[in-house]
Amino acid sequence: MKFREIVMQRYATKRFDGRVVPDEKVRELLELVRFAPSAINLQPWRIRVVTDPAQKAALKPAAFDQEQVTTCSHLLVFCADPDYEGLIARLEALLSANQVPEEMRQMVVGMARQFTGEMSLDQRLAWSTAQTYLALGNALNGAKALGLDSCPMGGFNPVTVTEILGIPRPLVPVMLCPIGYAADQPMPKLRFELDEILV
Ligand SMILES: Cc1cc2nc3c(=O)[nH]c(=O)nc-3n(C[C@H](O)[C@H](O)[C@H](O)COP(=O)(O)O)c2cc1C
Repeated sequence: MKFREIVMQRYATKRFDGRVVPDEKVRELLELVRFAPSAINLQPWRIRVVTDPAQKAALKPAAFDQEQVTTCSHLLVFCADPDYEGLIARLEALLSANQVPEEMRQMVVGMARQFTGEMSLDQRLAWSTAQTYLALGNALNGAKALGLDSCPMGGFNPVTVTEILGIPRPLVPVMLCPIGYAADQPMPKLRFELDEILV
């Protein structure tokens, strides 16, 4: 499928038909998510994959009873990771393991420390959240590319979702992304005209 077709055919699915997506396909999708861009390549996201029907049922009221949560095959819970000390340490290890020269490593790590060192916890979380949305974008378009449907969902209570899933601190669930096969029909794509979004 051409990228334009993927973009035009993807839509916020409201109900799935309950069919299970093969795990290999979900893995393929998660690989697309993994390669999303991020500032200084810090990849400040973590994803919980929920398949257990009991957990989905428990999560539904925390998401305003939206049907996608229980009818989807896999529910991807995108969490922002504001722990920059941990992320920088992991990035440093990744660069070392890939024989990135010392000088380059120090430059990247120094920049990351300088950027994040000046941030409040709220700023860190906002920065991580913005980037987690980029990873989510890969999931949404990636799902369509793999013949799947999806829905970006911000309508949920992150505190309750954290409790139900036992998401460890300091991760914060910022978006839900149910994946599966649609049982509804897309609405017409309504968007502002191109001239209206150019400034
Ligand atoms: C940040 C964000 C939060 C959203 N939350 C929900 C949601 O909780 N439930 C839902 O059904 N759709 C949700 N949507 C989907 C939008 O309503 C949808 O993308 C928009 O109306 C455009 O429709 P389309 O995606 O089908 O083209 C959300 C989208 C975004 C980007």
